[in-house]
Amino acid sequence: MSIEQLAETAQAMVAAGKGIIAIDESNNTIAKRFAGVGIENSEENRRAYRELLLTTPNLGQYISGAILYDETIRQATRAGVPFTRIMADNGIIPGIKVDKGPQPLAGFPGEVVTEGLDGLRERLQEYYKLGARFAKWRAVINIGDDIPSGTCIEANSHALARYAALCQECGLVPMVEPEVLMDGSHDIETCYEVTEVVLRSLFDALYQQSVMLEGTILKASMVLPGKDSDEQASVDEVAESTLMCLKSTVPAILPGIVFLSGGQSDEDATAHLDAMNRLGPNPWPLSFSYGRAMQSAALKLWSQDLANNVAKAQETVFARAKDNGLAALGKWDK
Ligand code: 13P
Repeated sequence: MSIEQLAETAQAMVAAGKGIIAIDESNNTIAKRFAGVGIENSEENRRAYRELLLTTPNLGQYISGAILYDETIRQATRAGVPFTRIMADNGIIPGIKVDKGPQPLAGFPGEVVTEGLDGLRERLQEYYKLGARFAKWRAVINIGDDIPSGTCIEANSHALARYAALCQECGLVPMVEPEVLMDGSHDIETCYEVTEVVLRSLFDALYQQSVMLEGTILKASMVLPGKDSDEQASVDEVAESTLMCLKSTVPAILPGIVFLSGGQSDEDATAHLDAMNRLGPNPWPLSFSYGRAMQSAALKLWSQDLANNVAKAQETVFARAKDNGLAALGKWDK
């Protein structure tokens, strides 16, 4: 795969006014989301729910790509059309989550390292054949007393870089996601400091593993105070801190940065993205790769009547895509 092709895919993922919908919840994670609204976690419900999301009318207007889970990339609509075909017809690039989730880091209580490198080359080759053109790997960094440790940050950066290099070898754009969690009572300055160290470590590891940044997308967490912090931050403060942190750590050659929502409210996730784009011009397009902030309203509506609320839920998905697409241009009108 040439770097030109990877760069072209990466640029299409962050095309002006478009972003990514993350629907790559593992079966364990979707079980939690379904349980929250009283939906049974059956294979058919998971399939029907992903069909609802992916067949949202005109979704491609604001959505450039969707991240799928291993089960989902193999599924089809009730009428038997593969999801990847539905996506291609709507100009939505298929992506795939390829990590196997965080596991406790031995010797470092409270910290985790993401696993999934064994056999990854073969899995990536198969996903490419199934139509995927980008892949996601999420590292999780916890903030707490004396954590994160340098060891945890380095172990996660190393894994992210190994995965990214394999992706590029197999023709997929790596979406590298080092998520600094919002859990905790830390202040925004602490989040800034941790995010800065994490990003410096990540780009160093990508360089060490010869990853071509022109064909890489960063999925970043925003710089925010912990959920339990007494001092919450204004929209402008979050936007300014996040931008400052990214500008001091992320090379300008990167084709784009997308954000995760991480447990922010739908409105906060949109407002923060919009504010960052209003502060531009920035070195890279800044867009979204939201999971919960794209889906939660739709999931709630659907749960009230699985058979009859599909169209209503899709309207919500479209509305969230539109709001976030406008925020990606700094043109969201609250
Ligand atoms: P959230 O936007 O719900 O944080 O999910 C995005 C994602 O893909 C996390 O890996």
